[in-house]
Amino acid sequence: MTQSSSISNTRWHTFESQDGINLAAATRILAAAQEAINQHGSFLVVLAGGSTPKSVYKLLSQQQADWANWHVYHNDDRCLPIDHLERNSKMARDVWLNHVAIPQTQIHDIPTELGNVEGAKAYAKTLNGLRAFDLVILGLGEDGHTASLFPNQIVDNSADVVPVFDAPKPPADRVTMSQNRLNNAHEVLFLVTGAGKQDAIDNWRKGVKIPATLIAPANGVDVYCFGVKLN
Ligand code: 6PG
Repeated sequence: MTQSSSISNTRWHTFESQDGINLAAATRILAAAQEAINQHGSFLVVLAGGSTPKSVYKLLSQQQADWANWHVYHNDDRCLPIDHLERNSKMARDVWLNHVAIPQTQIHDIPTELGNVEGAKAYAKTLNGLRAFDLVILGLGEDGHTASLFPNQIVDNSADVVPVFDAPKPPADRVTMSQNRLNNAHEVLFLVTGAGKQDAIDNWRKGVKIPATLIAPANGVDVYCFGVKLN
């Protein structure tokens, strides 16, 4: 079932099962890829971290796609060693990227093992000169954060990639794309599951300026929800 809201061009979609949201998200991602490859010869996709997208990534690992033309980025990552289980890049590789034929040179982890400041500088160089992303996938925190854009934290939006200090969600040190760089995208898809996100969704729909509302690309955003009500 899909509801659409004209406010801030946010389109809300609710699903009745985890399998339902996973299938819809994977279908949407694969369609975005084909459209981008048809148009540009490549697909620039930015992955969400956290636990929500894991089952969608697992489903994608079992699909056929023109993987050779996929270029994978991350909207944020935690400052942890490269193979730490809590690294967003490690999760994506373990459940998906290591199981499909995307060239390793086209999988762009954020080098957060360098620390947040040096990691941000290095990743900014990786993104330098890239066209608009074809698809940005984002999660939503219980406090309304997205990527590593947290409430009451000022982000230097003149930069594409910024270091994060004192993040309320451990670890404190992170690297995140700025809202401006995340907004430079053809499509943005939020994946939100679980009753723990209900307050954030309620606030979002009431017009509370949670960090997720900073993500407002020209074509609007789609929010795929399971286990939360659209009150
Ligand atoms: C992170 C993510 C963060 C995440 C949300 C939701 O590094 O933690 O970038 O923005 O997407 O906190 O996390 P869950 O999907 O685990 O609820």
